[in-house]
Amino acid sequence: MVEEVEAVQSKAKSRASRSTLHLVSSAATLLADVQADQAPRIHTGMIELDRVLGGGLVPGSMVLVGGDPGMGKSTLMLQLAAFAGAAVPEHPCLYVTGEESLHQIKQRAERLGVRSEGIVVASETNVERIVALIEQVSPALVVVDSVQTITTDLLESTAGSVAQVRECTSLLTRVAKRSGIPIIIVGHVTKDGLIAGPKVLEHMVDAVLQFEGEGTYSYRVLRALKNRYGSTNEIGVFDMTASGLREVLNPSEALLSNRSMDEPGTAVVAVMEGTRPLLVEVQALVSPSGYSVPQRVSTGYDARRLQMILAILEKRGGVQVRQSDVFVNVAGGIAVQDSAIDLGVAMAIASSVADRPIPAGIAFVGELGLTGEVRRVAYLEQRVSEAVRLGLDKIYAPNTAEAPSKNIIQVDRLSFVLRALFH
Ligand code: TYD
Ligand code: MG
Repeated sequence: MVEEVEAVQSKAKSRASRSTLHLVSSAATLLADVQADQAPRIHTGMIELDRVLGGGLVPGSMVLVGGDPGMGKSTLMLQLAAFAGAAVPEHPCLYVTGEESLHQIKQRAERLGVRSEGIVVASETNVERIVALIEQVSPALVVVDSVQTITTDLLESTAGSVAQVRECTSLLTRVAKRSGIPIIIVGHVTKDGLIAGPKVLEHMVDAVLQFEGEGTYSYRVLRALKNRYGSTNEIGVFDMTASGLREVLNPSEALLSNRSMDEPGTAVVAVMEGTRPLLVEVQALVSPSGYSVPQRVSTGYDARRLQMILAILEKRGGVQVRQSDVFVNVAGGIAVQDSAIDLGVAMAIASSVADRPIPAGIAFVGELGLTGEVRRVAYLEQRVSEAVRLGLDKIYAPNTAEAPSKNIIQVDRLSFVLRALFH
């Protein structure tokens, strides 16, 4: 619980400043008469980022980029700023930082090897002065790194407090809408996994992009949690290298590149991330437990769902896991939310229990139900074609109404797949 003291006087001031923006319009218009804004989107120089944004940055939009510290938010923003700022010489990109010194940014730019002619940098934390800077520079794009460091004169509370974050974002949003300049704000994720008060910011911004990744892996996934100008759940995959973030245009290939073939306990699954099929390797290790309560550890896959899969395997598949520790890991550090991964998780576990590898060239698609049935999933065709493209030509998948592809082995029960592979 955080106590928020509202300064009455400040509130009045903030109202006054709001009304001077002349944003209030009380006239109602027939929707048919409203002109659709067809301003072209601003490209970011990275196909992966463009895709997550729904095809580029929309002029006047407000985007929140969140993620754990060290994920690469500032790196991505600097790469984007260099590209967007280079397009039109008279409209550079304004990069406002409240976190790092200008020297640090220069060093990073040199390390990334980006062109810095199109970037105007400012070390500023006062949002009113940032707005003045925007008016003065007339940039093509504004990056504010990060929202937790900026404050408004209207409030006395400290930087990073809910009230400050909300008020600053609201002011910047109005500036973006009025000027048509897209503004990207960076936000850190707080301990409980939320972008500092993202719930208070989410409704104010047009898009929320989240940077995800596992510490030890270099892969980073940028995910659209909200997007008023595109579909959500769209992802972009990047690789953090010594010279910045590289796009991974062929993530399935990259994720499967160092697959441990002919090893028990691994299975390949075709999942969908947004509109894009992705092949991932699920690894499982099942070993006799030394504890009275066996351990269940899951990385990249929902831990509760793992408990459910284990119960289904035990009860409907006759696979003994009760006395064993079970570890499940989605290789590459990708967190998969698509439930079509279930069958693959179950088969990786079964393969580890049987100590027999799943033959090469096999992939799995399907959600598991509590009775051990393999349930239908969306986008089966895209999943299958991605698997076939990468040389996996036998796909165990649920029954569909449509004519099945020759690569699909239709299955409706988990027990059938277990029998086909391990008996
Ligand atoms: P950064 O963009 O500062 O993260 P954030 O703004 O999300 O906190 O990136 C920090 C990490 O990225 C840091 O641990 C070093 C690493 N990194 C590279 O590996 N290569 C690079 O070229 C750069 C700039 C950073
Ligand atoms: Mg940073």
